[in-house]
Amino acid sequence: MSFINSILIWLTKFFEKILPPTYGIYEKGSFPTHRKLTLNQAKSLILLGGKKERWEKETEFTYSFLKINFLEKNKEKEIFIADYGCGIGRLILPILKDYPQTKIVGVDESESMIELARKWIPKIFFDEKRVELLKPNQFFEKYQKKVFDLIMAIYVFQHIFLKELRKILPAIYQLLKDDGKLFIVNTFQNDDPLKRVVTIKDLLKPYFEKEIEISPFENKKDYIFWMGVIGAGYGDWQKMEKAKLRCQKFMGIYRKKINNAGWSNW
Ligand SMILES: C[S@@+](CC[C@H](N)C(=O)[O-])C[C@H]1O[C@@H](n2cnc3c(N)ncnc32)[C@H](O)[C@@H]1O
Repeated sequence: MSFINSILIWLTKFFEKILPPTYGIYEKGSFPTHRKLTLNQAKSLILLGGKKERWEKETEFTYSFLKINFLEKNKEKEIFIADYGCGIGRLILPILKDYPQTKIVGVDESESMIELARKWIPKIFFDEKRVELLKPNQFFEKYQKKVFDLIMAIYVFQHIFLKELRKILPAIYQLLKDDGKLFIVNTFQNDDPLKRVVTIKDLLKPYFEKEIEISPFENKKDYIFWMGVIGAGYGDWQKMEKAKLRCQKFMGIYRKKINNAGWSNW
């Protein structure tokens, strides 16, 4: 049995080497965190679908939302940020450059993404101790209660299965200062291997309430705005009427619910 297992593991590793980076994305594990990726593979995996310029357009769009709604408002303060599921550090880099008083912890399950982030983010920021990169277990061990002003999770929660997410959300809640904020970009539903309908907003409800949000599926104005800015580059297959909730996205800043009030805001 163990011999067969070893062969299966070897074969899986072999096929993963030669298959495109998207392989395994919606299978068990949801995101191929164990794969060794090149920079280009990682980029196309992070922002899958849409046209070539999606990376630039969407990064700019996401970053300017965060700037207007959080970073500019707090630019006089020393801000401690965690980027949960940071990938190669797509948003960490512009924040470090534009906001010299910020410190950021990038967290990612994938060794390969962390390695790429170490190259993508200039060494000077590591030398100045303004950024560190950790795996989730190291992160939750090192940091405990109420230390972060902002925790970001961009296209991450949809890849984490329910059982794990039910532990991560309260842990993130604990890590945020009472006036801390959560910045999320996510699909409405997560990739549940058992095909249950797992709606991310429902999972957030006990812990967070919305401060500002754009939600193209729920609000036609937001849809027009979102598509206008990102364009078809956001994915032609995500046309409003046809797309399933698993493809539809929302972006927002959420505050901590201190005493379970505020459900009506959703
Ligand atoms: C779609 S990518 C988004 C990367 C980054 N947030 C961005 O927007 O550029 C999802 C990232 O989440 C990471 N990830 C998946 N499951 C995770 C988990 N359980 N804990 C931490 N990171 C995870 C993946 O390795 C991947 O880098």
